[in-house]
Amino acid sequence: MYEMLSQDHAKQAQILRKVYEDAVSFLEQRPSRTVAPFYQEQTLRHLPQQGLGAEAARKLFSEDYLPWIPASSGGRYFGYVIGGVTPAALAGDWYTSLYDQNAFGHPGTVDRQIEAETIQLVRDLLDLPKDFFGVFVSGATTSAMTAMVCARQWAAAQTGHSASEEGLYGLERPDVASGLTHGANYKALSMAGIGRKVHALPLLPGREAVDPAALEAYLADRDPQKPLIYIANMGTASSGDHDDLNAIAELKKKYNFWLHVDGAFGGMMACSPKYAGLFNGLAEADSITMDTHKWLNVPYDGAVILCRHPDLQYQSFTNALSASGAVPNQASHYHMTPEGSRRLRALPVWFTLLAYGKEGYADLCERNVSLCEYYGQKVEASPYFRLLNQVRGNVVCFTLNLPEDRIAQSDIQEILDKLQAEGVTYSNMGSFYGKPALRVCLTNWMTEPADVDAAFASMENCSKAVFDRIRP
Ligand SMILES: Cc1ncc(COP(=O)(O)O)c(C=O)c1O
Repeated sequence: MYEMLSQDHAKQAQILRKVYEDAVSFLEQRPSRTVAPFYQEQTLRHLPQQGLGAEAARKLFSEDYLPWIPASSGGRYFGYVIGGVTPAALAGDWYTSLYDQNAFGHPGTVDRQIEAETIQLVRDLLDLPKDFFGVFVSGATTSAMTAMVCARQWAAAQTGHSASEEGLYGLERPDVASGLTHGANYKALSMAGIGRKVHALPLLPGREAVDPAALEAYLADRDPQKPLIYIANMGTASSGDHDDLNAIAELKKKYNFWLHVDGAFGGMMACSPKYAGLFNGLAEADSITMDTHKWLNVPYDGAVILCRHPDLQYQSFTNALSASGAVPNQASHYHMTPEGSRRLRALPVWFTLLAYGKEGYADLCERNVSLCEYYGQKVEASPYFRLLNQVRGNVVCFTLNLPEDRIAQSDIQEILDKLQAEGVTYSNMGSFYGKPALRVCLTNWMTEPADVDAAFASMENCSKAVFDRIRP
Protein backbone atom coordinates (compact mmCIF):
# COMPACT_ATOMS: atom_id res chain seq x y z
CA MET A 1 0.00 0.00 0.00
CA TYR A 2 1.23 3.52 -0.76
CA GLU A 3 2.97 4.79 2.38
CA MET A 4 0.84 7.92 2.90
CA LEU A 5 -2.36 5.95 2.38
CA SER A 6 -1.17 3.37 4.87
CA GLN A 7 -0.39 6.10 7.44
CA ASP A 8 -3.84 7.64 6.95
CA HIS A 9 -5.39 4.22 7.34
CA ALA A 10 -3.70 3.91 10.73
CA LYS A 11 -4.90 7.41 11.70
CA GLN A 12 -8.46 7.10 10.37
CA ALA A 13 -10.10 7.65 13.77
CA GLN A 14 -7.95 10.73 14.40
CA ILE A 15 -8.82 12.15 10.97
CA LEU A 16 -12.54 11.67 11.60
CA ARG A 17 -12.27 13.23 15.07
CA LYS A 18 -10.76 16.33 13.47
CA VAL A 19 -13.58 16.43 10.89
CA TYR A 20 -16.08 16.21 13.75
CA GLU A 21 -14.38 19.11 15.60
CA ASP A 22 -14.37 21.19 12.41
CA ALA A 23 -18.04 20.41 11.86
CA VAL A 24 -19.04 21.52 15.34
CA SER A 25 -17.04 24.71 15.10
CA PHE A 26 -18.47 25.51 11.62
CA LEU A 27 -22.02 25.02 12.87
CA GLU A 28 -21.36 27.17 15.95
CA GLN A 29 -19.75 29.97 13.97
CA ARG A 30 -22.15 29.90 11.02
CA PRO A 31 -24.56 32.55 12.39
CA SER A 32 -21.73 35.10 12.63
CA ARG A 33 -20.00 34.24 9.32
CA THR A 34 -20.11 36.61 6.37
CA VAL A 35 -23.06 35.13 4.53
CA ALA A 36 -21.60 35.11 1.01
CA PRO A 37 -18.02 36.42 0.76
CA PHE A 38 -16.71 37.43 -2.70
CA TYR A 39 -14.05 34.98 -3.79
CA GLN A 40 -11.17 36.13 -5.98
CA GLU A 41 -10.19 33.17 -8.14
CA GLN A 42 -6.58 31.99 -7.70
CA THR A 43 -4.12 30.04 -9.83
CA LEU A 44 -5.07 26.36 -9.90
CA ARG A 45 -2.61 24.07 -8.10
CA HIS A 46 -1.14 20.97 -9.75
CA LEU A 47 -1.15 17.40 -8.55
CA PRO A 48 1.76 16.79 -6.14
CA GLN A 49 4.10 13.99 -7.10
CA GLN A 50 4.08 12.73 -3.53
CA GLY A 51 0.82 12.67 -1.62
CA LEU A 52 0.46 15.12 1.27
CA GLY A 53 -1.74 12.97 3.50
CA ALA A 54 -5.24 13.72 4.71
CA GLU A 55 -4.23 16.09 7.54
CA ALA A 56 -2.09 18.30 5.26
CA ALA A 57 -4.92 18.35 2.66
CA ARG A 58 -7.38 19.32 5.40
CA LYS A 59 -5.09 22.12 6.57
CA LEU A 60 -4.70 23.47 3.03
CA PHE A 61 -8.46 23.43 2.57
CA SER A 62 -9.11 25.25 5.86
CA GLU A 63 -6.55 27.94 5.07
CA ASP A 64 -7.21 28.47 1.36
CA TYR A 65 -10.90 27.79 0.91
CA LEU A 66 -12.89 27.47 4.11
CA PRO A 67 -12.94 31.23 4.85
CA TRP A 68 -14.67 31.75 1.50
CA ILE A 69 -17.33 29.09 1.86
CA PRO A 70 -20.69 30.95 1.95
CA ALA A 71 -23.01 30.34 4.89
CA SER A 72 -25.63 29.32 2.34
CA SER A 73 -26.91 26.64 4.73
CA GLY A 74 -27.52 29.27 7.44
CA GLY A 75 -30.64 31.22 8.37
CA ARG A 76 -29.87 34.50 6.56
CA TYR A 77 -29.02 33.25 3.06
CA PHE A 78 -32.02 34.29 0.98
CA GLY A 79 -30.61 33.88 -2.54
CA TYR A 80 -31.87 31.59 -5.33
CA VAL A 81 -33.74 28.68 -3.71
CA ILE A 82 -31.17 27.25 -1.35
CA GLY A 83 -32.26 24.93 1.42
CA GLY A 84 -30.39 24.33 4.64
CA VAL A 85 -29.52 21.08 6.31
CA THR A 86 -31.50 19.69 9.23
CA PRO A 87 -29.48 17.91 11.94
CA ALA A 88 -31.02 14.56 10.97
CA ALA A 89 -30.39 15.11 7.24
CA LEU A 90 -26.73 15.89 7.94
CA ALA A 91 -26.41 12.71 9.98
CA GLY A 92 -28.05 10.69 7.20
CA ASP A 93 -25.77 12.25 4.61
CA TRP A 94 -22.65 11.41 6.61
CA TYR A 95 -23.85 7.82 6.85
CA THR A 96 -24.42 7.77 3.09
CA SER A 97 -20.71 8.49 2.57
CA LEU A 98 -19.65 6.22 5.41
CA TYR A 99 -21.47 3.17 4.07
CA ASP A 100 -20.76 4.07 0.43
CA GLN A 101 -23.49 1.96 -1.14
CA ASN A 102 -24.10 1.84 -4.85
CA ALA A 103 -27.87 2.28 -4.91
CA PHE A 104 -28.58 0.09 -7.92
CA GLY A 105 -31.77 -0.94 -6.14
CA HIS A 106 -31.44 -4.62 -7.00
CA PRO A 107 -34.07 -6.91 -5.44
CA GLY A 108 -32.86 -8.39 -2.17
CA THR A 109 -30.74 -5.36 -1.21
CA VAL A 110 -31.27 -3.02 1.68
CA ASP A 111 -30.67 0.08 -0.47
CA ARG A 112 -33.75 -0.87 -2.51
CA GLN A 113 -35.84 -1.06 0.67
CA ILE A 114 -34.47 2.29 1.99
CA GLU A 115 -35.14 4.10 -1.28
CA ALA A 116 -38.65 2.62 -1.70
CA GLU A 117 -39.50 3.41 1.92
CA THR A 118 -38.23 6.97 1.55
CA ILE A 119 -40.38 7.45 -1.54
CA GLN A 120 -43.32 6.27 0.54
CA LEU A 121 -42.44 8.91 3.16
CA VAL A 122 -42.36 11.55 0.40
CA ARG A 123 -45.76 10.39 -0.91
CA ASP A 124 -47.12 10.58 2.64
CA LEU A 125 -45.65 14.06 3.04
CA LEU A 126 -47.48 15.28 -0.06
CA ASP A 127 -50.58 13.10 0.39
CA LEU A 128 -50.01 11.35 -2.92
CA PRO A 129 -51.52 8.00 -3.87
CA LYS A 130 -49.41 4.86 -3.90
CA ASP A 131 -49.47 4.50 -7.66
CA PHE A 132 -46.81 7.19 -7.99
CA PHE A 133 -43.60 5.29 -8.54
CA GLY A 134 -40.57 7.26 -7.35
CA VAL A 135 -36.81 7.25 -7.50
CA PHE A 136 -34.06 9.64 -6.51
CA VAL A 137 -32.02 11.66 -9.00
CA SER A 138 -29.46 14.44 -8.62
CA GLY A 139 -31.74 17.48 -8.90
CA ALA A 140 -34.89 18.99 -10.34
CA THR A 141 -33.31 19.44 -13.78
CA THR A 142 -32.58 15.71 -14.05
CA SER A 143 -35.97 14.90 -12.56
CA ALA A 144 -37.68 17.06 -15.18
CA MET A 145 -35.59 15.49 -17.93
CA THR A 146 -36.64 12.05 -16.71
CA ALA A 147 -40.28 13.18 -16.78
CA MET A 148 -39.96 14.63 -20.28
CA VAL A 149 -38.39 11.40 -21.56
CA CYS A 150 -41.37 9.47 -20.12
CA ALA A 151 -43.75 12.01 -21.66
CA ARG A 152 -42.13 11.63 -25.09
CA GLN A 153 -42.49 7.85 -24.75
CA TRP A 154 -46.18 8.41 -24.03
CA ALA A 155 -46.56 10.81 -26.97
CA ALA A 156 -44.85 8.47 -29.42
CA ALA A 157 -46.89 5.50 -28.22
CA GLN A 158 -50.06 7.24 -29.38
CA THR A 159 -49.01 6.65 -32.96
CA GLY A 160 -47.71 3.17 -32.25
CA HIS A 161 -44.03 4.14 -31.96
CA SER A 162 -41.54 3.41 -29.24
CA ALA A 163 -39.29 6.45 -28.87
CA SER A 164 -36.89 4.46 -26.72
CA GLU A 165 -36.46 1.73 -29.35
CA GLU A 166 -36.72 3.68 -32.60
CA GLY A 167 -35.81 7.23 -31.62
CA LEU A 168 -37.76 10.33 -32.52
CA TYR A 169 -36.88 10.47 -36.20
CA GLY A 170 -39.86 11.05 -38.41
CA LEU A 171 -42.27 11.56 -35.51
CA GLU A 172 -44.43 14.64 -35.21
CA ARG A 173 -43.37 16.77 -32.27
CA PRO A 174 -45.84 16.85 -29.37
CA ASP A 175 -47.09 20.26 -28.26
CA VAL A 176 -45.68 21.64 -25.04
CA ALA A 177 -47.43 24.38 -23.08
CA SER A 178 -46.82 26.13 -19.79
CA GLY A 179 -47.09 29.44 -18.00
CA LEU A 180 -43.96 30.93 -16.53
CA THR A 181 -41.76 27.91 -16.23
CA HIS A 182 -38.21 27.57 -14.92
CA GLY A 183 -35.23 27.45 -17.31
CA ALA A 184 -34.55 23.93 -16.04
CA ASN A 185 -37.65 22.71 -17.86
CA TYR A 186 -36.47 24.11 -21.19
CA LYS A 187 -33.17 22.37 -20.59
CA ALA A 188 -35.04 19.15 -19.75
CA LEU A 189 -37.06 19.44 -22.97
CA SER A 190 -33.89 19.98 -24.95
CA MET A 191 -32.16 16.96 -23.35
CA ALA A 192 -35.23 14.81 -23.96
CA GLY A 193 -35.06 15.60 -27.68
CA ILE A 194 -38.44 17.33 -27.62
CA GLY A 195 -36.96 20.78 -27.99
CA ARG A 196 -37.34 24.00 -26.08
CA LYS A 197 -40.36 25.38 -27.92
CA VAL A 198 -43.06 25.96 -25.29
CA HIS A 199 -46.42 27.57 -26.00
CA ALA A 200 -46.65 30.31 -23.35
CA LEU A 201 -50.15 30.57 -21.91
CA PRO A 202 -51.54 33.88 -20.62
CA LEU A 203 -51.01 34.58 -16.93
CA LEU A 204 -53.51 35.90 -14.44
CA PRO A 205 -53.18 39.71 -14.11
CA GLY A 206 -50.21 40.71 -11.94
CA ARG A 207 -49.36 37.09 -11.23
CA GLU A 208 -47.02 34.38 -12.43
CA ALA A 209 -49.81 31.76 -12.52
CA VAL A 210 -51.57 30.57 -15.67
CA ASP A 211 -55.08 31.81 -16.28
CA PRO A 212 -57.13 28.55 -16.12
CA ALA A 213 -59.74 30.00 -18.52
CA ALA A 214 -57.00 30.66 -21.07
CA LEU A 215 -55.72 27.13 -20.60
CA GLU A 216 -59.18 25.73 -21.19
CA ALA A 217 -59.60 27.85 -24.32
CA TYR A 218 -56.25 26.59 -25.59
CA LEU A 219 -57.20 22.96 -24.88
CA ALA A 220 -60.61 23.32 -26.52
CA ASP A 221 -59.12 24.90 -29.62
CA ARG A 222 -56.37 22.40 -30.44
CA ASP A 223 -56.38 19.11 -32.31
CA PRO A 224 -57.11 16.55 -29.55
CA GLN A 225 -55.27 13.85 -31.53
CA LYS A 226 -51.98 15.69 -31.14
CA PRO A 227 -50.19 14.79 -27.90
CA LEU A 228 -49.70 17.66 -25.45
CA ILE A 229 -47.31 17.97 -22.53
CA TYR A 230 -48.43 20.59 -20.03
CA ILE A 231 -45.89 21.77 -17.46
CA ALA A 232 -47.58 23.20 -14.39
CA ASN A 233 -45.57 25.36 -12.04
CA MET A 234 -45.85 24.95 -8.31
CA GLY A 235 -43.54 27.69 -7.06
CA THR A 236 -42.18 30.17 -9.59
CA ALA A 237 -38.63 31.28 -8.91
CA SER A 238 -39.30 35.04 -8.96
CA SER A 239 -42.45 35.28 -6.90
CA GLY A 240 -43.25 31.82 -5.51
CA ASP A 241 -46.56 31.78 -7.36
CA HIS A 242 -48.30 28.58 -8.38
CA ASP A 243 -50.71 27.47 -11.06
CA ASP A 244 -54.21 26.48 -9.98
CA LEU A 245 -53.57 22.73 -9.83
CA ASN A 246 -57.13 21.98 -8.81
CA ALA A 247 -58.52 23.68 -11.92
CA ILE A 248 -55.89 21.95 -14.09
CA ALA A 249 -56.80 18.57 -12.60
CA GLU A 250 -60.44 19.22 -13.55
CA LEU A 251 -59.38 20.04 -17.11
CA LYS A 252 -57.41 16.81 -17.24
CA LYS A 253 -60.67 14.91 -16.80
CA LYS A 254 -61.97 16.55 -19.97
CA TYR A 255 -58.87 16.77 -22.15
CA ASN A 256 -56.05 14.32 -22.78
CA PHE A 257 -52.61 15.70 -21.88
CA TRP A 258 -49.53 14.71 -19.92
CA LEU A 259 -49.44 16.78 -16.75
CA HIS A 260 -45.99 17.40 -15.35
CA VAL A 261 -45.76 19.46 -12.17
CA ASP A 262 -42.55 21.32 -11.40
CA GLY A 263 -42.68 21.39 -7.62
CA ALA A 264 -38.90 21.71 -7.26
CA PHE A 265 -39.38 23.80 -4.15
CA GLY A 266 -43.08 24.78 -4.14
CA GLY A 267 -44.05 21.11 -3.84
CA MET A 268 -43.39 21.52 -0.13
CA MET A 269 -46.53 23.67 0.24
CA ALA A 270 -48.61 20.51 -0.18
CA CYS A 271 -47.31 19.15 3.14
CA SER A 272 -49.00 21.90 5.16
CA PRO A 273 -52.66 21.43 6.15
CA LYS A 274 -52.93 25.21 5.81
CA TYR A 275 -52.11 25.16 2.08
CA ALA A 276 -52.72 21.54 1.00
CA GLY A 277 -56.27 22.29 -0.24
CA LEU A 278 -54.79 24.51 -2.97
CA PHE A 279 -52.86 21.57 -4.33
CA ASN A 280 -55.23 18.58 -4.28
CA GLY A 281 -54.83 18.41 -8.05
CA LEU A 282 -51.20 17.38 -7.59
CA ALA A 283 -52.47 13.83 -7.13
CA GLU A 284 -53.74 13.87 -10.74
CA ALA A 285 -50.31 14.60 -12.25
CA ASP A 286 -48.55 12.16 -14.54
CA SER A 287 -45.16 13.20 -13.20
CA ILE A 288 -43.90 15.42 -10.40
CA THR A 289 -40.50 16.94 -9.75
CA MET A 290 -39.42 17.84 -6.25
CA ASP A 291 -35.95 18.66 -5.02
CA THR A 292 -34.82 17.41 -1.67
CA HIS A 293 -31.93 19.88 -1.55
CA LYS A 294 -34.28 22.87 -1.52
CA TRP A 295 -37.16 23.25 0.94
CA LEU A 296 -36.75 19.76 2.38
CA ASN A 297 -33.44 20.97 3.85
CA VAL A 298 -31.38 17.96 2.83
CA PRO A 299 -27.75 18.43 1.67
CA TYR A 300 -26.85 18.61 -2.02
CA ASP A 301 -27.66 16.87 -4.15
CA GLY A 302 -31.02 15.18 -4.43
CA ALA A 303 -34.46 15.24 -5.98
CA VAL A 304 -37.26 12.83 -6.66
CA ILE A 305 -39.07 12.01 -9.85
CA LEU A 306 -42.54 10.72 -9.07
CA CYS A 307 -44.25 9.18 -12.05
CA ARG A 308 -47.40 7.15 -12.38
CA HIS A 309 -46.26 5.48 -15.60
CA PRO A 310 -43.42 3.23 -14.44
CA ASP A 311 -43.77 1.12 -17.60
CA LEU A 312 -42.85 4.14 -19.76
CA GLN A 313 -40.03 4.98 -17.34
CA TYR A 314 -38.69 1.43 -17.53
CA GLN A 315 -38.89 1.41 -21.33
CA SER A 316 -36.96 4.68 -21.48
CA PHE A 317 -34.28 4.08 -18.87
CA THR A 318 -33.66 0.37 -18.65
CA ASN A 319 -30.09 -0.76 -18.95
CA ALA A 320 -31.31 -3.87 -20.78
CA LEU A 321 -30.82 -4.03 -24.55
CA SER A 322 -34.47 -3.65 -25.36
CA ALA A 323 -37.58 -2.88 -23.35
CA SER A 324 -40.71 -2.47 -25.34
CA GLY A 325 -42.85 -4.18 -22.71
CA ALA A 326 -44.17 -3.34 -19.26
CA VAL A 327 -41.99 -2.84 -16.21
CA PRO A 328 -41.03 -6.16 -14.60
CA ASN A 329 -42.13 -6.41 -10.97
CA GLN A 330 -38.60 -6.59 -9.72
CA ALA A 331 -36.91 -3.98 -11.91
CA SER A 332 -33.84 -2.56 -10.20
CA HIS A 333 -33.91 1.17 -9.55
CA TYR A 334 -31.11 1.82 -11.99
CA HIS A 335 -33.42 0.65 -14.75
CA MET A 336 -35.70 3.59 -13.87
CA THR A 337 -33.28 6.54 -13.83
CA PRO A 338 -30.80 8.22 -16.16
CA GLU A 339 -27.88 7.09 -13.98
CA GLY A 340 -26.23 3.70 -13.67
CA SER A 341 -24.25 3.73 -10.44
CA ARG A 342 -25.98 5.92 -7.89
CA ARG A 343 -25.33 7.51 -4.50
CA LEU A 344 -27.84 6.45 -1.85
CA ARG A 345 -29.46 9.89 -1.90
CA ALA A 346 -32.54 8.55 -0.17
CA LEU A 347 -30.81 8.04 3.18
CA PRO A 348 -30.57 11.68 4.39
CA VAL A 349 -34.19 12.16 3.30
CA TRP A 350 -35.22 9.04 5.21
CA PHE A 351 -33.48 10.39 8.31
CA THR A 352 -35.01 13.86 8.21
CA LEU A 353 -38.55 12.77 7.32
CA LEU A 354 -38.62 10.22 10.12
CA ALA A 355 -36.97 12.65 12.53
CA TYR A 356 -39.44 15.51 12.06
CA GLY A 357 -42.49 13.87 10.48
CA LYS A 358 -45.38 15.52 8.76
CA GLU A 359 -45.88 18.02 11.58
CA GLY A 360 -42.26 19.12 11.64
CA TYR A 361 -42.23 19.74 7.90
CA ALA A 362 -45.60 21.51 7.91
CA ASP A 363 -44.23 23.75 10.65
CA LEU A 364 -41.05 24.47 8.65
CA CYS A 365 -43.10 25.35 5.56
CA GLU A 366 -45.61 27.54 7.40
CA ARG A 367 -42.89 29.34 9.37
CA ASN A 368 -40.96 30.19 6.20
CA VAL A 369 -44.11 31.46 4.49
CA SER A 370 -45.15 33.56 7.48
CA LEU A 371 -41.63 35.02 7.73
CA CYS A 372 -41.93 35.92 4.05
CA GLU A 373 -45.21 37.68 4.81
CA TYR A 374 -43.41 39.48 7.63
CA TYR A 375 -40.63 40.53 5.20
CA GLY A 376 -43.37 41.67 2.80
CA GLN A 377 -44.94 43.84 5.51
CA LYS A 378 -41.58 45.47 6.12
CA VAL A 379 -41.24 46.15 2.39
CA GLU A 380 -44.66 47.80 2.32
CA ALA A 381 -43.88 49.93 5.38
CA SER A 382 -40.54 51.12 3.97
CA PRO A 383 -40.26 54.41 2.04
CA TYR A 384 -37.59 52.80 -0.18
CA PHE A 385 -39.44 49.80 -1.57
CA ARG A 386 -42.67 48.52 -3.02
CA LEU A 387 -43.89 44.96 -3.38
CA LEU A 388 -44.22 43.41 -6.83
CA ASN A 389 -46.05 40.27 -5.72
CA GLN A 390 -48.61 39.36 -3.14
CA VAL A 391 -46.71 36.90 -0.95
CA ARG A 392 -48.23 33.47 -1.69
CA GLY A 393 -45.33 31.24 -0.81
CA ASN A 394 -41.75 31.58 0.31
CA VAL A 395 -40.60 34.32 -2.08
CA VAL A 396 -40.87 38.10 -1.73
CA CYS A 397 -40.36 40.06 -4.93
CA PHE A 398 -39.97 43.83 -4.68
CA THR A 399 -38.27 46.85 -6.13
CA LEU A 400 -37.34 50.43 -5.32
CA ASN A 401 -40.33 52.64 -4.61
CA LEU A 402 -39.70 54.71 -7.72
CA PRO A 403 -41.18 54.92 -11.21
CA GLU A 404 -40.36 51.73 -13.11
CA ASP A 405 -38.55 53.49 -15.95
CA ARG A 406 -36.00 54.99 -13.56
CA ILE A 407 -34.82 51.65 -12.20
CA ALA A 408 -32.09 49.99 -14.25
CA GLN A 409 -30.76 46.48 -13.81
CA SER A 410 -27.41 48.03 -12.80
CA ASP A 411 -29.14 49.85 -9.90
CA ILE A 412 -30.54 46.58 -8.56
CA GLN A 413 -27.16 44.91 -9.04
CA GLU A 414 -25.43 47.74 -7.15
CA ILE A 415 -27.75 47.15 -4.19
CA LEU A 416 -27.13 43.42 -4.29
CA ASP A 417 -23.35 43.91 -4.45
CA LYS A 418 -23.48 46.21 -1.42
CA LEU A 419 -25.66 43.71 0.38
CA GLN A 420 -23.20 40.93 -0.29
CA ALA A 421 -20.28 43.10 0.86
CA GLU A 422 -22.11 43.98 4.10
CA GLY A 423 -22.28 40.24 4.74
CA VAL A 424 -25.44 40.06 6.88
CA THR A 425 -27.59 38.41 4.22
CA TYR A 426 -27.57 37.44 0.56
CA SER A 427 -30.15 37.90 -2.17
CA ASN A 428 -29.94 37.59 -5.94
CA MET A 429 -31.56 39.43 -8.82
CA GLY A 430 -35.13 38.51 -9.61
CA SER A 431 -37.27 39.48 -12.56
CA PHE A 432 -40.96 40.27 -12.55
CA TYR A 433 -42.71 40.70 -15.89
CA GLY A 434 -39.31 41.28 -17.45
CA LYS A 435 -38.25 43.99 -14.99
CA PRO A 436 -35.23 43.49 -12.72
CA ALA A 437 -36.30 43.01 -9.11
CA LEU A 438 -35.05 42.36 -5.63
CA ARG A 439 -36.14 39.04 -4.27
CA VAL A 440 -35.70 37.01 -1.14
CA CYS A 441 -36.48 33.33 -0.82
CA LEU A 442 -36.79 31.67 2.57
CA THR A 443 -36.20 27.95 2.62
CA ASN A 444 -34.15 27.38 5.75
CA TRP A 445 -35.36 25.64 8.91
CA MET A 446 -33.19 27.96 11.02
CA THR A 447 -34.57 31.33 9.90
CA GLU A 448 -36.12 33.29 12.75
CA PRO A 449 -37.82 36.72 12.90
CA ALA A 450 -34.52 38.21 14.14
CA ASP A 451 -32.82 37.00 10.93
CA VAL A 452 -35.51 38.69 8.84
CA ASP A 453 -35.10 41.91 10.89
CA ALA A 454 -31.32 41.90 10.38
CA ALA A 455 -31.58 40.99 6.69
CA PHE A 456 -34.19 43.64 5.96
CA ALA A 457 -32.24 46.33 7.85
CA SER A 458 -29.20 45.49 5.72
CA MET A 459 -31.31 45.58 2.53
CA GLU A 460 -32.64 49.04 3.43
CA ASN A 461 -29.21 50.27 4.37
CA CYS A 462 -27.71 49.13 1.07
CA SER A 463 -30.55 50.62 -0.97
CA LYS A 464 -30.74 54.16 0.44
CA ALA A 465 -27.89 55.69 -1.57
CA VAL A 466 -29.13 54.16 -4.83
CA PHE A 467 -32.68 55.30 -4.07
CA ASP A 468 -31.56 58.88 -3.34
CA ARG A 469 -29.41 59.01 -6.45
CA ILE A 470 -32.09 57.97 -8.92
CA ARG A 471 -35.27 59.39 -7.41
CA PRO A 472 -36.84 62.22 -9.46
C1 LIG B 1 -38.97 25.92 -9.94
C2 LIG B 1 -37.63 25.29 -10.19
N1 LIG B 1 -37.53 24.27 -11.05
C3 LIG B 1 -36.35 23.66 -11.31
C4 LIG B 1 -35.19 24.10 -10.73
C5 LIG B 1 -33.89 23.40 -11.03
O1 LIG B 1 -33.45 22.73 -9.89
P1 LIG B 1 -32.05 21.99 -9.78
O2 LIG B 1 -31.03 23.08 -9.68
O3 LIG B 1 -32.16 21.18 -8.53
O4 LIG B 1 -31.84 21.15 -10.99
C6 LIG B 1 -35.23 25.17 -9.83
C7 LIG B 1 -34.02 25.70 -9.20
O5 LIG B 1 -34.01 26.70 -8.52
C8 LIG B 1 -36.49 25.78 -9.55
O6 LIG B 1 -36.60 26.81 -8.69
